[in-house]
Amino acid sequence: MPWDEIKPRQFKAFDKELDGISRQTMEDHYKLYEGYVKKTNALRKQLNEFDYAEIEGNQVYSDLRAVSVDYTFALLGFKNHDLYFGHLGGEGGEPQGRFAELVDAEFNGVEKWKDAVRKAASSARGWVMVGYDLNDGSIFNYIMDTQNLWAVYNMVPVLALDVYEHAYARDFGATPDGRKAYVDAFFRNLDWDHVNRQLTQAEAAKAGADSVGGEPKG
Ligand SMILES: [Fe+2]
Repeated sequence: MPWDEIKPRQFKAFDKELDGISRQTMEDHYKLYEGYVKKTNALRKQLNEFDYAEIEGNQVYSDLRAVSVDYTFALLGFKNHDLYFGHLGGEGGEPQGRFAELVDAEFNGVEKWKDAVRKAASSARGWVMVGYDLNDGSIFNYIMDTQNLWAVYNMVPVLALDVYEHAYARDFGATPDGRKAYVDAFFRNLDWDHVNRQLTQAEAAKAGADSVGGEPKG
């Protein structure tokens, strides 16, 4: 399917007051998201217009290399924020449904998973991405230093926690304790139904792949 331009979406999180995360933070944050959309479209256009017979390939520096690498930064800036904004604006509370079942089994308890996310949030320089692995159905909290480092293939993001300072410095201060307070606020505003919808899609994709894929090869 040919690539289409992406567009910034509207999110319910912007129609209500969040608990602890200010409207100003959200509005400033949305501008970053719009910037990622714009750059994704511009870089994809450049990649589609390159003359690949003539363009230089060079690992030290080349236009192809620069645009290709930064395209993933822009595109994942879009995708990660799409999920982040998408699942804010909820009622918070404890993890529920299928997601709670999976992390309970994977982390020996839902509270332990939450502690793991809190510590991952203090350890990441950019994002914590909670992902479902299409190969084995496991859940993992990926620590990502930027939006394009370091997740793995066949991981479907189900929960995205932005820990860049722009997400919390205004409301909580740019300190380790400020970040911890922000992570608690993030959970208070999380829409677990959204998380579970992502997970349902991921599990359906795995079931579909398993039904045609046969036995995994080593
Ligand atoms: Fe962000």
